[in-house]
Parts: sequence; structure tokens; C-alpha cells
Amino acid sequence: MKATIAVLAGDGIGPEVVAEGVKVLRAVGQGFGHTFALREALIGGIAIDETGVALPPATVETCVAADAVLLGAVGGPKWDDPTAKVRPEQGLLGIRKALGLFANLRPVTVHPLLMDASPLRRERLEGVDLLVVRELTGGIYFGEKRRERDAAGEWASDLCIYSEAEIVRVVRVAAELARKRRGHLTLVDKANVLETSRLWRSVTTQLMQTEFADLQFDWMLVDACAMHLMRRPSDFDVIVTENMFGDILTDEASMLAGSMGMLPSASLGEGNKGLYEPIHGSAPDIAGQGKANPLAMILSVALLLRHSLGLEDEARAVEAAVSAVLEEGLVTGDIARPGQLPQPTAAVGDAVAARLVVQAQAS
Ligand code: IPM
Ligand code: MG
Repeated sequence: MKATIAVLAGDGIGPEVVAEGVKVLRAVGQGFGHTFALREALIGGIAIDETGVALPPATVETCVAADAVLLGAVGGPKWDDPTAKVRPEQGLLGIRKALGLFANLRPVTVHPLLMDASPLRRERLEGVDLLVVRELTGGIYFGEKRRERDAAGEWASDLCIYSEAEIVRVVRVAAELARKRRGHLTLVDKANVLETSRLWRSVTTQLMQTEFADLQFDWMLVDACAMHLMRRPSDFDVIVTENMFGDILTDEASMLAGSMGMLPSASLGEGNKGLYEPIHGSAPDIAGQGKANPLAMILSVALLLRHSLGLEDEARAVEAAVSAVLEEGLVTGDIARPGQLPQPTAAVGDAVAARLVVQAQAS
């Protein structure tokens, strides 16, 4: 097949991990006979430096014209002033919104070989295979923001707003995914305090009773969920939740996998177009040193092949190549086991690409 992929490397370790994702994409193209046209575009801090804004119109155009978007990370100390009018994060939030990517899929699995890299005991990690579906274009992230001063001093507000339609569409995505997995959906909210959460609770319950009565459905308050993710993580199958709860819970859940450097994500909208990015950030402290783990990015490429291009066999081949590399211990320092020499970022990407070529030849 022929496909056009927009490549947004961004800041910090973004360019380093994206280079390995691209390497793997090219290996898939060669091995399986596909043509991927790559179109690079600016986002985040580097876009601010070069154009004055975090999301230049040309980047949006490139993404709109592409079949899928591969994104590294945005942000860094250079642009960290939270009072600045232009901030790198605006690029990320802006492209999610511009492409209508309302469902953010963040799968968390624990490879048996990485259990010792997790702060949790091995017995807690057995059988962990969960998927967080985070609402991505609404809620407190996108509601009206105010910052004012009156006689008593400064005050600020962030409006959290959700409509029934926004809830229904993302819950539907989550429930359909649950149906293909273990058939269990958990809504996470704060319905004991927030009105938006009470709307989530009633809309979701209604939808589950009418369209998804075959699934096991329950709900959990977000604070309890934060605890249960540590206490009994293997009980979760699919979690659906609003934008900010999903942001926080997925950083927490990433610790189950041993390293944030292992977790990919897919952001999807109505069509097949999606944006694929690792859930880790730009990690400025290790940028440019060849220490970044490229596997989250490479696993994001697998999600791109699966969800936007419909290339399931190729997606599985990438995931199998990643497992092979883990088994051989060709990994970066964050997940190296005692006695394993940490590999540089590019060497891990080379190893995955090499195994893909071997697999493609065998298939
Ligand atoms: C994420 C990140 C972003 C978010 C930041 C960088 C704006 O934390 O993708 O989880 O909060 O969505
Ligand atoms: Mg986050």
C-alpha cells in the first residue's frame, strides 16, 4: 500500500526516538512491500523558535493531508515559563483538537522480562493487561481559562465542560475495544463531587445498558482507581475516563510497565486518521545523549500500522521484533537488567529493524 505519514519530531528526546520510529517504518515498508511517504513538520518549542508559534498552520496542513501522524514529544526548560503567551504544549493540544482526535488509547502491558524494572512486586504484575481510553479534546484542558485580579488579590479559573455527545463518542470507542478484549469496561470519574462526572456516570450507564449490555460494566472514583492500579492492576481491562483523570492515571499506570519508555499511545477520531506518540515526554535531562528508550515510539508505530493503515500483520511483526529485542537484552539503561550493557537509542532501533527484515523474509 501507499501511505503518507506526517512526522513531528518536536523537542528534547523527540527527534531521537522519532528517528528510530522512522527506521522501523522504513523496515516495514521494505520488508512488506509498502511505500510510506514521510512529511516532516514543526511542532512545540522548535516551532516557537523557528516560526513564533507552537503549531504553525503549515504543520496542521501537513497533518490534515496525511494518513497518520507520528509525534515525538514537546517542551523543555528553554520554553518553561508558565506565564508565557506561547508554550510548546499548545502545539500538542492544538493538533489533537485540530484533527478531532477525541479518543486516546494508552495500553499498559507488562513484559515478563521487565517485571523487575517496576517498583511493584512481581506477583502484583502477573496478568496486567489494561487499556486506558482517555477523552482527549474536551474537559478542563479546553474550557475557558481566566486569570484576574480584584481587591482581594489574584484569582484564576479553568472551566471543565463536557457534553453528552462528547461522552457518548469516546465511551463507544472504549466499549467496542472492550468487546474485542476481556469484555469489561470501567468508567472512572469523581461523581461524588463533580457535576461533569455525574453526567459521565448517567450517560455512560445508559449507553452501556442499551448498546453494550453484553459487557461487564462498572465505575470507580478516580482516587480509588489510583489506589487500585497499584493494589490489583490485573483486575482492569478497559478504563474510560475524562481528559485530566486519564492524563494522571496513565503516568501512574506506566510504572507498572517498568519504564515510561515502554508505553505507546494512539489518538483517534471519527475516521482512520490517528496521531501516534509515546506517552513519555521530551525528557530534556537526557536529550541528545543516546539514552532515550525508543521502544515506546516503535510500539506507537505498531499502533499506527494497526489503527490507521489496517496493517495488522505488520503491526504484530513490529511488536514481535520488540519482544525479541527485549529477550536478547538489547535495551537502553532504563530497562537494562543487571549484567546487561545499556545500548544506545539508535542501536535498539537498529536491532528492531533488523529483526523485522528477518521476519518479513520468513513470512
Ligand atoms: C500527555 C502530556 C500532555 C497532556 C501535556 C504535555 C500537555 O502530559 O500527553 O499526557 O497533558 O496531555
Ligand atoms: Mg501526561
